[in-house]
Amino acid sequence: KLVDLAHYSHYMQKEIFEQGSAVANTLEERITNNCMLEIETFGEEAVEIFNQVEAVRILACGTSYYAGMVARIWLESMGIPCEAEIASEFRYRNPVVPDNALVVAISQSGETADTLAALNQASKLGYKYSLAICNSPFSQMTRVTDLVLHTRAGPEISVASTKAFTTQLVSLLLLMIALAKRRGMTVDEEAEIVSELRALPSRIEALLQMDKDIAELSDYFADKEHTLFLGRGTHYPIALEGALKLKEISYIHADAYPAGELKHGPLALIDAKTPTIAVAPNNHLLAKLKANIQEVRARGGKLFVFSDSGTPIKSDELIEVIEVVKSGPFTSPIIHTIALQLLAYHVAVTKGNDVDNPRNLAKSVTVE
Ligand code: G6P
Repeated sequence: KLVDLAHYSHYMQKEIFEQGSAVANTLEERITNNCMLEIETFGEEAVEIFNQVEAVRILACGTSYYAGMVARIWLESMGIPCEAEIASEFRYRNPVVPDNALVVAISQSGETADTLAALNQASKLGYKYSLAICNSPFSQMTRVTDLVLHTRAGPEISVASTKAFTTQLVSLLLLMIALAKRRGMTVDEEAEIVSELRALPSRIEALLQMDKDIAELSDYFADKEHTLFLGRGTHYPIALEGALKLKEISYIHADAYPAGELKHGPLALIDAKTPTIAVAPNNHLLAKLKANIQEVRARGGKLFVFSDSGTPIKSDELIEVIEVVKSGPFTSPIIHTIALQLLAYHVAVTKGNDVDNPRNLAKSVTVE
């Protein structure tokens, strides 16, 4: 391998621990000292194009798609109509195309066959503008779109994606700012989000200090066959990503649901052998999520609740609260993701699995 493992045991571990600096690199020279975004970083035509954009369609596969799901909520919250869709589904549909629409493809490799085909389909359907958010600077994808934003995570060797995902989220926040500026985002609002991004690398370093605490949970999971992940809002895609990481490398069946759907099915599966992992930051949805946690608890299911420091949720014989570093509303999904990456990593190590090369999976899926 061209990339040295240094003192780490696996590439995945190394890449998890690189996330503070990866995020700092993603932000480098893209934000000014007075906390403003440099829109030209998206490309020479970026200002002109972003001034026209009235709707956004995000296309991606796998982990990259979950970044798109989070971004959809962000863009909508800024008044920008947005849909996120799995590339392999979009490429075979004929959706209605809004005027002045921007298609955004998200990809670590820039070579995923379905995402490339979906971009092609989007341009045939009449999407006017295109942007690639991509980690691989010379990939196919970066050659076919009008605009490109490199995520700058550096080479990602482990099949299970980690730093590519978190830098995609950071890049999508930059996109949100770029588009929201046209829709009345004030200088103060922009500065607030940019400062939150600036604080992120050090918050990631603080979160990574929890490595040993999270590793201690892995024994509990190692002999389980099923797990359920719950989240709400921007943290529902994070629950999906947490479940994907666990299934990819630990081979434990993991399902993720928006917590409000609990009563519509998954509650039937809860028993003493099926732990639930709740992604429960201290936000406006916490009260709702607390009620869902009680529903699981009442069925005798063990719960691992990832919340923020100072959370009102308390541990008891069935609930184990893991308090992560508190961060702002936009970067909280990133912090929570890293905690779940560490969990999946340690469970896979405990089980003795080939962490970096999980069975049946490839780093980049270049065939359909
Ligand atoms: C594969 C990888 C995933 C990745 C997905 C999309 O399934 O194992 O980690 O999320 O492809 O890849 P991309 O390179 O387009 O982000």
